[in-house]
Amino acid sequence: MKSLVIAGNWKSNKTLHEVKDWLEQFRAATATLNYQPTLTIVLCAPFTALDLLQRQIKDLKFPVGLGAQDISPFAPGAYTGEVNGLQIKELADWVIIGHSERRQNFGETEEMLRQKVTQAKSAGLKIIYCVPDQASAVPENVDMVAYEPIWAIGTGKSDTPENANQVISTIKQKTPVRRVIYGGSVTPENVVSFVSAPAIDGVLPGGASLDPLKFSNLIASTLKFQG
Ligand code: PGA
Repeated sequence: MKSLVIAGNWKSNKTLHEVKDWLEQFRAATATLNYQPTLTIVLCAPFTALDLLQRQIKDLKFPVGLGAQDISPFAPGAYTGEVNGLQIKELADWVIIGHSERRQNFGETEEMLRQKVTQAKSAGLKIIYCVPDQASAVPENVDMVAYEPIWAIGTGKSDTPENANQVISTIKQKTPVRRVIYGGSVTPENVVSFVSAPAIDGVLPGGASLDPLKFSNLIASTLKFQG
């Protein structure tokens, strides 16, 4: 059976009050799912939500890993406002690096992204490295790549599974990374079209992970596909 990853990305959303509501609804919605260990579920949340999530996510019926959405490019020290890898590792096992929203809105360069990868690795974090296309560089030591075409993010217009499969196959040929997932307007309705494509190892839903029912439906559809 194909191993798959579903990595939700909350982006800059949810107060602690909203996180509690989400957990309550997600717990209820997933109570009857038949979880299979071939599915890895990760939730990438804002730093402010990770402590609460870490304490409460254990009560779910199946494992949900936690991830941060960014990391300081530096070791601990005089870098006001930054959250470093060791701090993240206390709360999460994963980190997203290189999301196009960070490249575009915060001027993250390839050099900065390489520094972030180095920091994440030395803290023992698993890295989901986002690229907008097959031409983008992928640093060494990345655990998983997410192919996310910019025009598909948050637009409701996903890539076709055929094209995503083609791009992901090319990324796998060009880099040593073995797991590559697709992100960009993934929904409970279209998730199976992506995860059933041979080269695609999972999905990175943003908007659909904010709604506990949509996220749970997305997981349910994937589990059903896995059989
Ligand atoms: P979206 O976001 O699912 O809302 O398009 C995906 C992402 O940017 O990670």
